[in-house]
Amino acid sequence: MRDLEGKWALVTGASSGFGVDFASLLAERGANVVLVARPVEPMLALAVQLRQAHSVKVQVEGLDLATPGVGAALKARLDAQQIAVDMLINNAGFGLFGAFLPQPLADTLNMMQLNMQSLTELTHVFSQDMVRRGGGQILLVASIGGYQASPLYAAYSATKAYVLLFGEALHEELKPLGVTVTVVSPGVTVTSFLAVSGQKPTLYQRLVMMPSRPVAKIGLAALKAGRASIVPGWLNAATTWSNRLLPRFVQRKVAYQLMKN
Ligand SMILES: NC(=O)c1ccc[n+]([C@@H]2O[C@H](COP(=O)([O-])OP(=O)(O)OC[C@H]3O[C@@H](n4cnc5c(N)ncnc54)[C@H](OP(=O)(O)O)[C@@H]3O)[C@@H](O)[C@H]2O)c1
Repeated sequence: MRDLEGKWALVTGASSGFGVDFASLLAERGANVVLVARPVEPMLALAVQLRQAHSVKVQVEGLDLATPGVGAALKARLDAQQIAVDMLINNAGFGLFGAFLPQPLADTLNMMQLNMQSLTELTHVFSQDMVRRGGGQILLVASIGGYQASPLYAAYSATKAYVLLFGEALHEELKPLGVTVTVVSPGVTVTSFLAVSGQKPTLYQRLVMMPSRPVAKIGLAALKAGRASIVPGWLNAATTWSNRLLPRFVQRKVAYQLMKN
């Protein structure tokens, strides 16, 4: 079904993992895509594949998104090419596994810049434009880690709690202005995430891990349906739901045990 024919979708973090799946699923629906991440090589290869398979336009932008001002800079680059973004997939992000104190503070601040500040900037710049043009769609990638305090991912899970609450609040604010905002909160998924964060998968993670394409598909379906928030996978959904029944000190102790073993 080519229901996005002629639309432009901007996918951040499109060099691997979910970003590749988001871009592929959107191109399959006829959308032209802007791919953004740091090294251009994997995105150039994906661009060739998407153009050939789906006859869509693909623009590759090599950018370090963990840079203040990157939202305006990217918007200016796309304006110069007369590309107006109809869908923003705010997906780029990474985690840092391990105790907070031994981590270099600069790494934590860099993660916060990418996962929160730059995501907020991109959302601000592109949603303003969408409102001006009469509508649009924004998907924010949070995590089930954002539903409770997660020792050993302390700062990361806090960045995802920000994304979750920011996105759900924006869903209400922007809906009357014609812009749909949806938050997708995946559980452990097969991508480069764990390797980048420095964690060897635990037994629990290996047991519950989902492949990335179905997770991306569920996120895009929720966006299409105009939902505020979605947790892909019944086990992940049950985990976040049942958390509500537990006192917060139990939630964080359980999360700590699951990350340690
Ligand atoms: N996989 C999971 O278990 C899981 C669970 C919950 C949530 N998530 C979230 O899913 C999102 C996507 O991650 P993933 O799982 O697909 O992991 P991934 O395979 O490591 O992909 C991360 C993407 O983010 C990009 N990125 C990282 N730093 C960047 C920077 N400074 N500038 C531009 N792009 C940058 C990476 O590109 P380059 O490094 O090539 O620039 C890559 O394309 C993240 O927000 C993550 O927090 C993942």
